[in-house]
Amino acid sequence: MPHLPLALPRWFAHRGGGSLAPENTLAGIRLAARLGFKAVEFDVMLSGDGTPVLIHDETLEGTTDGVGNVCATPDAVLFALDAGDGEPIPRFAEAALLCRQLGLVANVEIKPATGFERSTAEIVARMTGELWRDAPVPPLISSFSLEALEIARDLAPQIRRGILYEAVPADWLAEMQRLQAVSLHGDADLLTDQVLAEAKAEGIPVLCYTVNAENQAKNLLSRGVSGMFTDRLDLFAAEAGFFF
Ligand code: G3P
Ligand code: MG
Repeated sequence: MPHLPLALPRWFAHRGGGSLAPENTLAGIRLAARLGFKAVEFDVMLSGDGTPVLIHDETLEGTTDGVGNVCATPDAVLFALDAGDGEPIPRFAEAALLCRQLGLVANVEIKPATGFERSTAEIVARMTGELWRDAPVPPLISSFSLEALEIARDLAPQIRRGILYEAVPADWLAEMQRLQAVSLHGDADLLTDQVLAEAKAEGIPVLCYTVNAENQAKNLLSRGVSGMFTDRLDLFAAEAGFFF
């Protein structure tokens, strides 16, 4: 299978700035860059008006002072909410611009609300291609939704894709080949040595989430993991500039 050259940082700030800032906000992304992180991961979902925004949950209650479903909330309401410390929910386009300005690798996780897989993937994939056109630091799209990755492959084939699993299934390599993905992302607690050996044999980098302890990071690196997502930016800032 074709492997695009991967120059990815070892550490990705999870949900923007990890646990040191409100999640999925521009303040978080700025903080990650200030601490020396070279990559940030964030989640992208559609608002009720079809605008891609940074948020993890399908509902607003978890991270904002709003109520209800993100996919049913109009922009006029959504962008007036407080996502923590007075930070608004960012538009995907704003986050992209900020990552470009700060020279960060963006891991754009397509996080469709249930039933919105196709529309979310179409909009986010197209926009990712446009927002990072000719960018010196290209982004990486990932998703738990294989349908979303398929759409990204078709609409923005030039943007690298990572396939995202909880437990990695036996047919992961066939799926990667079908989706022409370049990296395998899995839950750190569920990652097996068999999968790591298979990935190594294929030359495919494995990234895992969410790694918040130094011992765990050491162990994963010794087992062959290449990259990790962390909420603990304070613990891993010293090696935030390492690439693989
Ligand atoms: O992309 C890695 C990680 O963000 C996946 O889990 O639920 O935090 O989006 P989640
Ligand atoms: Mg995520």
